[in-house]
Amino acid sequence: MINSGATMRHHKKPIISPLRYPGGKAALYTKLRAIVRANDLTSGTYVEPYAGGAGAALGLLVTGQVRRIVINDLDPAIYALWKAVVSEPLAISRMIEKVELTVPEWSHQKDIYLNAPRDDYLSLGFATLFLNRTNRSGVLNGGPIGGMDQTGNYKIDARFNRKTLVERLRLIALHAKRISVANTDGMTIIKRYSKRDNTLIYADPPYFEKAGSLYLNSFTETHHSALAACLNAVSDTKWLLTYDNVPRVAELYSDRRREIFALNYSAHRVTKANEIMVFSDSLTIA
Ligand SMILES: C[S@@+](CC[C@H](N)C(=O)[O-])C[C@H]1O[C@@H](n2cnc3c(N)ncnc32)[C@H](O)[C@@H]1O
Repeated sequence: MINSGATMRHHKKPIISPLRYPGGKAALYTKLRAIVRANDLTSGTYVEPYAGGAGAALGLLVTGQVRRIVINDLDPAIYALWKAVVSEPLAISRMIEKVELTVPEWSHQKDIYLNAPRDDYLSLGFATLFLNRTNRSGVLNGGPIGGMDQTGNYKIDARFNRKTLVERLRLIALHAKRISVANTDGMTIIKRYSKRDNTLIYADPPYFEKAGSLYLNSFTETHHSALAACLNAVSDTKWLLTYDNVPRVAELYSDRRREIFALNYSAHRVTKANEIMVFSDSLTIA
């Protein structure tokens, strides 16, 4: 049962996102929940300008920790998935129930992923979900679990549990009216929402070193420093940021409070990684 309160403390975080996301931040649920409460934001809006799998956002919404969430991602395929999930959950659930889990179907979905019109969000969104759940480590431009010849120990269907996925979509659909989905640059979202009261922004941009080919990564030094300028300019609003713990982060955010933490990373085949969290001045850290 997904719930807040005592039982949660003994369980893992609520897993609501249908996406497997390398470096996903669902594990930060407990920390974010504490921050939401300490900053009196339980009736507020929680914003992820670089949402990816949006694991933390969905966990906070579905367990009633925040009133509204904003999920933004610049990647048109990730956006299409979220738009389809929020506006056509039944259609996408039916596709999850019916789709064949075979290599020919994988090739078909890959073709849709690469070639479907970007505004055909049901087809593109479903193809994104399909590849995310059937590819090794969830990497969208990788190969299928078990290989094209399906001789691996795990097969293409190893991570595609239809019932679990449909159940997650059902939960999200119950809260869909309180989810806004956007497809723009993260800084545009930060500028827009930092003007609003009762709002918490959690930025998890592509990392300096680990990002690689895991997801859309158009971030260069210019982007990292532009983002720092954007966030540092609104330090009187409530935001937090996570990055890989490289020296450049301490330079870019030298005036802000910072905390090093560890998170599990399955996609990198290491169990712990050093990450850093940066806080705006007006945020109460919990
Ligand atoms: C580190 S991942 C976020 C992981 C996410 N917090 C999770 O828990 O799943 C960064 C995301 O930012 C997206 N992205 C890359 N450049 C962006 C930009 N300029 N604006 C918005 N999103 C961007 C990528 O598509 C990717 O999904």
